[in-house]
Amino acid sequence: MSSVLTIRGGVPLTGRVTVRGAKNLVPKAMVAALLGNEPSVLRNVPEIKDVEVVTSLLQLHGVTVEKDPVTGDLTLDPTNAKTASHTAIDAHAGDSRIPILLCGPLIHAIGEAFIPDLGGCKIGDRPIDFHLDVLRQFGAVVEKRPGGIHISAPQGLKGSKISLPYPSVGATEQVLLSATRAEGITELAGAATEPEIVDLIAVLQKMGAIISVQTDRTIRIEGVQDLGGYNHRALSDRNESASWASAALVTRGDIFVQGATQRDMMTFLNTYRKVGGGMDIGDDGIRFYHRGGKLNPLVLETDVHPGFMTDWQQPLIVALTQAEGVSIVHETVYENRFGFTDALIRMGANIQVHRECLGSVPCRFGQRNFLHSAVISGPTQLTGTNIDVPDLRGGFSHLIAALAATGTSRVTGIDIINRGYERFTEKLAGLGADFDISAAE
Ligand code: EPZ
Repeated sequence: MSSVLTIRGGVPLTGRVTVRGAKNLVPKAMVAALLGNEPSVLRNVPEIKDVEVVTSLLQLHGVTVEKDPVTGDLTLDPTNAKTASHTAIDAHAGDSRIPILLCGPLIHAIGEAFIPDLGGCKIGDRPIDFHLDVLRQFGAVVEKRPGGIHISAPQGLKGSKISLPYPSVGATEQVLLSATRAEGITELAGAATEPEIVDLIAVLQKMGAIISVQTDRTIRIEGVQDLGGYNHRALSDRNESASWASAALVTRGDIFVQGATQRDMMTFLNTYRKVGGGMDIGDDGIRFYHRGGKLNPLVLETDVHPGFMTDWQQPLIVALTQAEGVSIVHETVYENRFGFTDALIRMGANIQVHRECLGSVPCRFGQRNFLHSAVISGPTQLTGTNIDVPDLRGGFSHLIAALAATGTSRVTGIDIINRGYERFTEKLAGLGADFDISAAE
């Protein structure tokens, strides 16, 4: 049953939230357990939809997944892995993109994989061409079938020299999950090096993999015959932490984010400080707060790590609607990630989106009709309105805009936010937000 939030704005969010394992690592570490010949234990696992989707997909393939009722830790046992029916896989894949990462581990475990046509947030075309090219370079046979693709490797996967046309996180994970047990050496040039990638490498190293990250963004993997299990505590979710930080600015509040990790958020923290946000960086978390003065506009470009994460820009843009002056955001990772600004404009924000690259970072979207640069003028008074959440990060941005607006907002489609924000309504209530939850008619 989908829910509706009725939010009464104008209340500063104050208090403490706990952020647990990263949505963009935990499902991948779960898939990695398939590569082992013994059980693995994953700790610091959040209760989010993406974890549920991967749990049911793994169980479908014969992996037992036990969840500790107290800690939420997962024990994954891949020893009875088996094929699953295509219709069952499709039914369980939901709107996640994770199934594409099952290819390598399933080929190693059972010799084949069927991947249903993928979902994921509507922030661009979300192609998987890099993934399929990489699998073919490992020697896999990729066949389009009704409803998805079938991948097999009669002679097993062979190490290969691969170069990515773009430092894709997913394609890098595809290589890591395929190469660790492939025969021979794999060299991946142009790899993504996000903290979640490094944490996945740590998981694989615990299993017995031999992986090194070179200084020039090349990752080298020496294939091994067998891998064992792992016992790993997932790194915390820097995207959720950054979202709460922006929420503190937008609502003129003060939020301590337990679990926020400075090491993974350095670029965000610099930007937060330049906007005028206050922060106290501790060992077990970071306090983010509005300092009472004005917020500063800025020119911002998203990029791959260690640049400013594309997942951080949506909540921060809501804060920029309150900054005094004109800000520019050039989104260079996804071609269509400003759809969420429509609702902000209806609430009174002054935002124009443009086709031009308004920045110096080389971008694949210039002159291709993608509205991937935004100009934000502030400060503007936001007024409550009816909102239907478009995607995960845009949806969180709508929530914090409604919390800052004067008047009441009716927000539908909020279930998509459960994909990446653990118990977010409880956290909002704990921070003093004034809202009701009701079942959608
Ligand atoms: C991961 O998506 C994250 N999702 C995204 O987080 C994150 O924004 C993104 O990495 C970039 O950091 C998960 O980890 C589940 P990509 P992914 O492959 O792997 C293009 C969130 O809100 N591309 O690095 O799908 C692609 O279209 C989500 O938490 C191809 O062209 O991202 C995009 O323009 C959103 N062909 C660019 O590369 C391919 O085969 C970056 O995508 C693959 C990607």
